[in-house]
Amino acid sequence: MRGMLGRELVIVNLMIWIGVLLIGESSSTGIGVNWGTISNHRLSPSMVVPLLKDNRIQKVKLFDADPLVLRSLAASGIQVMVGIPNDMLPVLSSSSAASDSWVRQNVSSYLIKGGVEIRYVAVGNEPFLASYSGQFQEYVVPALLNLQQSLIKANLANFIKLVVPCNADAYESSLPSQGAFRPELTQIMTQLVSFLNSNGSPFVVNIYPFLSLYGNSDFPQDYAFFDGTSHAVTDGPNVYFNAFDGNFDTLVAALSKIGYEQMPIVIGEVGWPTDGALGANLTAARAFNQGLINHVLSNKGTPLRPGVPPLDIYLFSLLDEGAKSILPGNFERHWGIFSFDGQAKYALKLGLGNRLLKNAREVEYLPSRWCIADPSRDLSGVADHIRLACNVADCTTLSYGGSCNAIGAKGNVSYAFNSYYQLRKQDSKSCDFDGLGMVTFLDPSVGECRFLVGIADNGSTSVGRYDQLVFVLAFILWVSISF
Ligand SMILES: *[C@@H]1O[C@H](CO)[C@@H](O)[C@H](O)[C@H]1NC(C)=O
Ligand SMILES: *[C@@H]1O[C@H](CO)[C@@H](O)[C@H](O)[C@H]1NC(C)=O
Ligand SMILES: *[C@@H]1O[C@H](CO)[C@@H](O)[C@H](O)[C@H]1NC(C)=O
Ligand SMILES: *[C@@H]1O[C@H](CO)[C@@H](O)[C@H](O)[C@H]1NC(C)=O
Repeated sequence: MRGMLGRELVIVNLMIWIGVLLIGESSSTGIGVNWGTISNHRLSPSMVVPLLKDNRIQKVKLFDADPLVLRSLAASGIQVMVGIPNDMLPVLSSSSAASDSWVRQNVSSYLIKGGVEIRYVAVGNEPFLASYSGQFQEYVVPALLNLQQSLIKANLANFIKLVVPCNADAYESSLPSQGAFRPELTQIMTQLVSFLNSNGSPFVVNIYPFLSLYGNSDFPQDYAFFDGTSHAVTDGPNVYFNAFDGNFDTLVAALSKIGYEQMPIVIGEVGWPTDGALGANLTAARAFNQGLINHVLSNKGTPLRPGVPPLDIYLFSLLDEGAKSILPGNFERHWGIFSFDGQAKYALKLGLGNRLLKNAREVEYLPSRWCIADPSRDLSGVADHIRLACNVADCTTLSYGGSCNAIGAKGNVSYAFNSYYQLRKQDSKSCDFDGLGMVTFLDPSVGECRFLVGIADNGSTSVGRYDQLVFVLAFILWVSISF
């Protein structure tokens, strides 16, 4: 009798223990990254995927369905959210044939053995953004309905979830508990969330405390981070110590208001840039991202959702994207936890095995040479050259608050020349600038201000090496003539 009881106790204990393990497992937030590709120096997908694997990153969010990127993710074990750009929403909303063929080409064809683990399709990207003035708004739900039918026809509806990443500007309130969707979005959000709910999809939101700080000089700096604040926000019985939790709970309140208090939430984008603005620097980015990761992995949750952290968060972003539009600000090209060439910008533990970030391996660079302003030339007529160079190449580190802002007038010219020269893959004609440019083999970087060298195309590098020899000879000749 006693023996039986003992064994039953052991079994019950074991079951509780397994239960705790399972619950513990399922409530731990997944840490993923956004992988955007709007870059002048695009790291080959065949190098990015090993970078993801070396860093044990198991979830990646894409902004489109680039076949090169998707093929490179095949058999990687990495879970993928593919994206549909906003400009495809009109056709997908009006044509079920277009929707069927999108699913066939960009989802089904990858779901073979050894294929890509597509789990989510992001339908549009922040389509309700206030600055779009509603231009994509009406297409979102009809596109979702068409795509859901296409998934059902392809027998994928149980496995692949449709989501709509929303900017946090879809809701507003001064206090989290008063959160509500923007009045003109209430109806559409109710339809959207009802759709998500009936399909078991999470609500995906992008939250950016950096932008709150950047857009408002009165925003208390320490409230953007996770180290405690002298500006805690008191909301009835609840107290908020960081902007992230405050924003998250504003969404929870907005969802409750339309009847979906329990809606699971995924953070589609969150991060901190490292350059191009005051407050965008390595120290701040590291503090924010590490604070965020530790916070969500602590499973503390928020006052309105205690013990329930977001399902997943996708850091914004994996790599710097030097060709992005700078309409939002010069910081827009500097969100990466890695620089454009896959090198870790700062020490960060993603919480996936407690290790620091590892760099991309075997990155092939162009030869170590730079284009600068010829010191012997009068640079008074250089403004147009700078404008043209910086129009296509990235010069955002020169801006106020940027890492290269203090390198002087001549430094500015050299920086612009070099950015253009590297963009043109060091083509010799691209360092001419009516005779004002010259190639150097001495790294012109000053302090924190880094003059980059481009990365080589993924093909052969032998041309580069021959080229380099010719340049070394030409340089020696130039030095001996000039002095
Ligand atoms: C190299 O880049 C080309 C396109 O520029 C692509 O077709 C090819 O797959 C890439 N090779 C590798 C090994 O990534
Ligand atoms: C698949 O996705 C790509 C990249 O986003 C897009 O260009 C293409 O049109 C899509 N295919 C279909 C059939 O819509
Ligand atoms: C980095 O940014 C943070 C705030 O975002 C600011 O407090 C700090 O002074 C900045 N550090 C430097 C060295 O500019
Ligand atoms: C260099 O360029 C930046 C960006 O245009 C500007 O803010 C800065 O004042 C310039 N420096 C000099 C010395 O002209």
